[in-house]
Amino acid sequence: MKFPESTRLRNTFHSLVPGGCHTYSKGDDQFPEDAPGFIVRGKGCHVWDVDGNEFIEYGMGLRAVTLGHAYPTVVEAASKQMLLGSNYTRPALIEYELAETVVGLFEGADMVKFAKNGSDVTTAAVKLARAATGRDVVAICADHPFFSTDDWFMGATELSAGIPKAIRDLTVTFRYNDAGSVSSLFKEHPGQIACVILEPATSEEPVGDFLHAVQRVCRENGAVFILDEMITGFRWDIGGGQKYYGVVPDLSAFGKGMANGFSVSALVGKKELMELGGLHHDRERVFLLSTTHGAETHALAAAAETIRVYKREDVVGRLHAQGERLRSGIGKSIQEIGIGDFFQVIGRPCNLVYVTKDPEGNRSQPFRTLFLQELIKREIIAPSFVVSFSHSDADIDRTIEAVSEALMIYRKALEEGIGKYLKGRPVKPVNRRFN
Ligand SMILES: Cc1ncc(COP(=O)(O)O)c(C=O)c1O
Repeated sequence: MKFPESTRLRNTFHSLVPGGCHTYSKGDDQFPEDAPGFIVRGKGCHVWDVDGNEFIEYGMGLRAVTLGHAYPTVVEAASKQMLLGSNYTRPALIEYELAETVVGLFEGADMVKFAKNGSDVTTAAVKLARAATGRDVVAICADHPFFSTDDWFMGATELSAGIPKAIRDLTVTFRYNDAGSVSSLFKEHPGQIACVILEPATSEEPVGDFLHAVQRVCRENGAVFILDEMITGFRWDIGGGQKYYGVVPDLSAFGKGMANGFSVSALVGKKELMELGGLHHDRERVFLLSTTHGAETHALAAAAETIRVYKREDVVGRLHAQGERLRSGIGKSIQEIGIGDFFQVIGRPCNLVYVTKDPEGNRSQPFRTLFLQELIKREIIAPSFVVSFSHSDADIDRTIEAVSEALMIYRKALEEGIGKYLKGRPVKPVNRRFN
């Protein structure tokens, strides 16, 4: 596979755009040197790059494209709405219609506010919590990789350049599946913690009544319990992780998966908190999510149709089934090739990721790069094994074959040294470590 046009454009692109892309995990430092640089078209789970190479894709727009690229009824709904205008001086009727639909999806939702990005709505949740409690400190889960591009979160990561210390000091961390670590924070910072924010689950599931225990600790200490459902929403269940695990947060944040890749996110939650951003109370009003493009009509139309597809078809069931087919096929290869100690596929079938280890059994970015490189050679782009509704049995089976071949090379690299097989520099880790 050759990438002449990608290579030519990439050099100029870096002089136009810092980092050569607009999303951290799409960056050149996240992919092997021989990788498609620019995608020009996608259909279902297939994409075509600027050199005309075709790939089966996993991850699908950072997990936003749950149905598949250019899903026909979603494209149709968005285009129809586009012809009616995309932004008016007063609210569009579709804002009302979609608000009713979304509030009907989640038990923890009395009210909803739409925005464009996940970060907008997690940040809005934190702001509401601070306003409602009159407290400044935010408790975030240290084991969860990402909540927002905003300072309250990025200040707690190793990419905190440009964020004042005063802001960084307001974020404290606890451990997933350790309710005691949440209680300890409340003891260390009495009367100061506004909210606790975490994902309901990642590749690590909640053990016992962990989520309910965190909720209890929040209630006992007068803090707001926030679930970030960017990944679990529209994937674990149409009602989100909160429905799946039977827990009702005070506020929750949705985004990816809501509109099949169109830019729509939603802050949902209890009226007593959400209404602080409204007109019908006598407390100080919170300036809550007022953005010019927040209710762009065709994106909302895409969300409405995506939700209709979820209701018409068993999307969640298929994400699980196709993920399970993939996991079981790759699992067989791992066993046959005998590298189970060095390569693992983990997580729920609808949200599979993989772990790459070196001959000493340590997590390894060079081995991740080698695996990505060998898959790309075999026309698969898979920074994760996150499937969409459009991954057919044939796509999955072809992937299993490619993975099996890539793992044979992986084994040789474990035995003979990676230098012989890896072309170029290793990729950077995608997850940042907390201070
Ligand atoms: C769990 C989680 N929360 C929040 C975000 C931020 O979403 P966005 O990139 O749409 O701002 C992400 C994005 O990767 C995420 O995975």
